[in-house]
Amino acid sequence: MANVRVTMEVGNDGVAVIKISNPPVNALAPIIIAALKEKYKEAMNRDDVKAVVLMGEKGRFSGGFDINVFQKVHKSGDLSALPNVSVDLVVNTMEDGKKPSVAAIEGLALGGGLELAMGCHARIAAPKAQLGLPELTLGVIPGFGGTQRLPRLIGMKKAVEMMLTSKPIMSEEGNKLGLIDAVVPSGELLKVARAWALDIAEKRKPWISSLRRTDRLGSLSEVREILKVARQQAKRTAANLPQHQTCIDVIEEGVVFGGYSGVLKEAIVFNDLVLSNTSKGLVHTFLAQRAISKIPNVTDIGLKPRQIKKVAVIGGGLMGSGIVTALLLGNISVVLKEINTEYLQKGMKTIEGNLRGLVTRGKLTQDKAEKALSRLKGALDYSEFKNVDLVIEAVIESVPLKQSIFSEIEKICPPHCILASNTSTIDLNTVGEKTNAKDRIVGAHFFSPAHVMPLLEIIRTNNTSPQTILDLMAVGKTIKKVPVVVRNCTGFAVNRTFFPYTQGAHVLANLGVDVFRLDRVISNFGLPVGPFQLQDLAGYGVAMAVSKEFAASFPDRTFQSPLVDLLIKSGRNGKNNGKGYYIYEKGSKPKPDLSVLPIIKESIRITNIMPDGKPISVSDQDILEMILFPVVNEACRCLDEGIVVRASDLDVASVLGMSFPSYRGGIVFWADLVGPQHIYTSLKKWSEVYGSFFKPSEFLEKRAMKGIPLSAPASTSESSRSRM
Ligand SMILES: NC(=O)c1ccc[n+]([C@@H]2O[C@H](COP(=O)([O-])OP(=O)(O)OC[C@H]3O[C@@H](n4cnc5c(N)ncnc54)[C@H](O)[C@@H]3O)[C@@H](O)[C@H]2O)c1
Ligand SMILES: *[C@@H]1O[C@H](CO)[C@@H](O)[C@H](O)[C@H]1NC(C)=O
Ligand SMILES: *[C@@H]1O[C@H](CO)[C@@H](O)[C@H](O)[C@H]1NC(C)=O
Ligand SMILES: *[C@@H]1O[C@H](CO)[C@@H](O)[C@H](O)[C@H]1NC(C)=O
Ligand SMILES: *[C@@H]1O[C@H](CO)[C@@H](O)[C@H](O)[C@H]1NC(C)=O
Ligand SMILES: *[C@@H]1O[C@H](CO)[C@@H](O)[C@H](O)[C@H]1NC(C)=O
Ligand SMILES: *[C@@H]1O[C@H](CO)[C@@H](O)[C@H](O)[C@H]1NC(C)=O
Ligand SMILES: *[C@@H]1O[C@H](CO)[C@@H](O)[C@H](O)[C@H]1NC(C)=O
Ligand SMILES: *[C@@H]1O[C@H](CO)[C@@H](O)[C@H](O)[C@H]1NC(C)=O
Repeated sequence: MANVRVTMEVGNDGVAVIKISNPPVNALAPIIIAALKEKYKEAMNRDDVKAVVLMGEKGRFSGGFDINVFQKVHKSGDLSALPNVSVDLVVNTMEDGKKPSVAAIEGLALGGGLELAMGCHARIAAPKAQLGLPELTLGVIPGFGGTQRLPRLIGMKKAVEMMLTSKPIMSEEGNKLGLIDAVVPSGELLKVARAWALDIAEKRKPWISSLRRTDRLGSLSEVREILKVARQQAKRTAANLPQHQTCIDVIEEGVVFGGYSGVLKEAIVFNDLVLSNTSKGLVHTFLAQRAISKIPNVTDIGLKPRQIKKVAVIGGGLMGSGIVTALLLGNISVVLKEINTEYLQKGMKTIEGNLRGLVTRGKLTQDKAEKALSRLKGALDYSEFKNVDLVIEAVIESVPLKQSIFSEIEKICPPHCILASNTSTIDLNTVGEKTNAKDRIVGAHFFSPAHVMPLLEIIRTNNTSPQTILDLMAVGKTIKKVPVVVRNCTGFAVNRTFFPYTQGAHVLANLGVDVFRLDRVISNFGLPVGPFQLQDLAGYGVAMAVSKEFAASFPDRTFQSPLVDLLIKSGRNGKNNGKGYYIYEKGSKPKPDLSVLPIIKESIRITNIMPDGKPISVSDQDILEMILFPVVNEACRCLDEGIVVRASDLDVASVLGMSFPSYRGGIVFWADLVGPQHIYTSLKKWSEVYGSFFKPSEFLEKRAMKGIPLSAPASTSESSRSRM
C-alpha cells in the first residue's frame, strides 16, 4: 500500500503542498487522516513554511471518507475505527492553525473531501470539478463540519438543498455561490493556489474561517422557515430515513448556538447514524453494486472486453424496441430486424416514442435524441448482420422460430459475434441446438421498459464462454445497466426470488386480510407499491402467465389463488383498462375500488383456507413477515442452487429489479438483520397452520440452526447440493 500516503513538499516560496494519494478517488482512509495530521503538524512547526496548499493526486481532490471503513464499523459495531477529524483535524489543526490553507480542487471534492476543502481558508478549483455532500445517500450526515460550513459559505437555502438531495454542483456554479474563490485552468491551479495562500499569509487577502462566518446565514426566522419547509419535504420524500431530519436539526443547532456547537452536535449525531440500520443498508447496497461486476473465472483471468460497435436486435416488439432504445442511448449503432415493413415501422415508431418521451421529461436533449436515432437502421433481412458484434433476439417464445433464427444468424454473423436471446421459458441449449456456437450463446433478460429499468440479468449456460459473459457485461455497463450474471432457473434471480411475494399476498387475502391494508403495509415498509397494485400495473395477463410458469416449476410451494381469474372474468384488467383492485383515472391517484370486495369474498369461498371460517387476525408486522419471509425463503433456495455468484448479488437484484428499498440493503441483507432464526421459526409455525407454501427450505433451516448468516459464502461441507 505504498501508494496510499500523504506527501508534503515545501517550495522556495514557503508554501507546503500537501498531497493526498489513495487511488482511484483519494478516499480518506484512517491512515490518510493520520498522515494528514502529521504533515500539517510539521508544516505548522517548520520555520520555512508560511502557508499550505492541500490537493489530491492524479487530478482528483478527494471522493470523501473511505466507505469501506463504514462497513468495517458496521460489522464490528466499534466506533473507534472512525478517526477524530472534525475537531482535531479540521477545526484545531487546519482552520485555527497559525498558517493559512488553500484547497486546490480538481476532478471531485465530495463528502469528506469537500469538508476538508471548506476547512481551508480559500478554495481554488479547476473547471468542471464536482462538489457535493452526498453523505445522506449513505445514511449518515456530513461529519467533518460540512453541515455548518456549507450554509455559512453559500447560504442556507442552497446548502440545505445540496445536502438533502446529495446532488453535486460544478466548480463554475460553486464559484457563483461563494463556495469556490476562483476557477482557473487546470494547468494553473497549483500556481494560483500557492500565490493565494501566500497572499493570505501576508495579509494581502482576507484570512477567512468558514465556521466563524455568519454574513450569509440570514436571520434566524428566515432560517427557521427554510428548515421548516425542508422538514416537511423530507417527511414526504424520505419517510423512513432518519438522516434527513437529523441533518436539519444539526444545521439548526449551529445557527442557534454557533458553528462550533453545531460541529459538536454533528459529531454526536454522526456516530448515532453510523450505527443505524439505514446506514448499514445503504453502505451495503453501495458496495454490493461494486462487487457485482466481479465474476470468478470471468473477470479475474486476464480477459479484456472486446469492443462492441454494432448490435443487431431481432424483433421490434415492446421488449425489442426498449432494448434498441437503450443501446442507441449508449452510443451503439443498431440494426433492427423485423419480418415485414408494417412491424418494422411499428418498432421504429416505438423507439422514436421512447426517445421523445425522454426529451419531454427533460432527461435527454433534442440533439442527442436525433443523434441516437441516426445510429439506427431498420432491416428485413440479415444482410446488415455481416459485421455485427452482438445479436439480441427478442421474438416471441417459440422453439422452432428461435432455433431457425439462431442457425441462420450463425452462418451470417462474424465468428466472434455474441448470440443473445431474451427467452425465459425456452432452454438456451435448445435454442442453440442447431448451431456450433454454444460458447457464444447467452441469455439477456431486460426488465420492462428496457430503456428505463436499470437491471440486466445475464444468463450463462454451462457452455457460455467467459469472454462472451465479459463482453455482454461490458455492453450492459455501456448502456448504463447493472449486469447480474446468473445461472438459469425459472424466473432467473429476480422473478424467482419474488414469486412468493405475490403468492404470499394472495394467501393473506384468502385468509381474509384486507388487500388495501396489505398494500399499505408493504409501501410503508418502502416498496413503491404493494403487491396488488403491482399486479394492476403489470396487467392480469402477465400475472396469469407468470404464475402458471411458477406453478409448473414449484408445485410444492405454489398457492393456487383464483382471484386474478375472477377479476378478469368480471371485466377487470388492472391499470390497462382503468379497473383493477384500484380505480385508475387520468390525473388522480389510484383509489381503492371497494367493488372488488365481493370478488375477493368469492375467492375466499372457493379456496376455503380460513382456519375457523373466520378472517385471521394479524398485526401489520405479521403481514410484513408473512409476505417477505417466503421471499427470503426462496432467496435461500437461489443461494443454495448457486443461481447467483454471491448473496449480495441478490441484494442488488432485489433493489434494482423489484425496487426493494436500498436503505434496507436488499432482501438477503435485510433477512440477516432480522435474523435467520426468527425467519425460520416463523415460517415453520405458519407452514404447520397454513400449509407448505411457508415450509422453510433446507438452506434456511441449516443456517438458522447453526447461527450462520444467510449471506455467508457456502462452504462445501454445508452445501446440500454437494451432498446430493
Ligand atoms: N463519503 C461519502 O459521503 C460518499 C462518497 C462517495 C459516494 N457517495 C455516494 O454514494 C452514491 C452511489 O454512487 P454511484 O455508485 O452512483 O456513483 P459512482 O460509482 O460514480 O461513485 C460515486 C463516487 O463514489 C466515490 N467512491 C467510490 N468508492 C469510494 C470509496 N471506497 N471511498 C470513498 N468514496 C468512494 C467516488 O468519489 C465516486 O465519484 C452516490 O450518491 C455517491 O455520491 C458518498
Ligand atoms: C476530538 O479531538 C478533540 C481535540 O483533540 C477533543 O477535544 C475531542 O474530545 C475529540 N473528540 C472525540 C469524539 O474523541
Ligand atoms: C475456476 O476454474 C477452475 C479451473 O477450471 C476451477 O477449478 C474452479 O473451481 C473455478 N472457480 C469457480 C469459482 O468457479
Ligand atoms: C422477449 O421479447 C418479446 C418481444 O418483445 C416479448 O414478447 C417477450 O416477453 C420477451 N421475453 C422476456 C422474458 O422478457
Ligand atoms: C460515439 O461513437 C462515435 C463513433 O462510434 C464516436 O466518434 C463518439 O466519440 C462517441 N461518443 C461518445 C459520447 O462516446
Ligand atoms: C431455465 O430452466 C427452466 C427450468 O429448468 C427451463 O424450463 C428453461 O427452459 C430454462 N431457460 C433457459 C433460458 O435456459
Ligand atoms: C451444469 O454444470 C453443473 C455443475 O457442473 C451441473 O450440476 C449441471 O447439471 C449442468 N447443467 C447442464 C444443463 O448440463
Ligand atoms: C418477470 O416478471 C415480469 C412481470 O411480473 C414479466 O413481465 C417478465 O416476463 C418476467 N420475466 C421472467 C424472466 O420470468
Ligand atoms: C435493525 O433492524 C432489525 C430488523 O428489522 C431490528 O430488529 C433492529 O431493532 C433494528 N435496529 C435498530 C437500531 O433500529
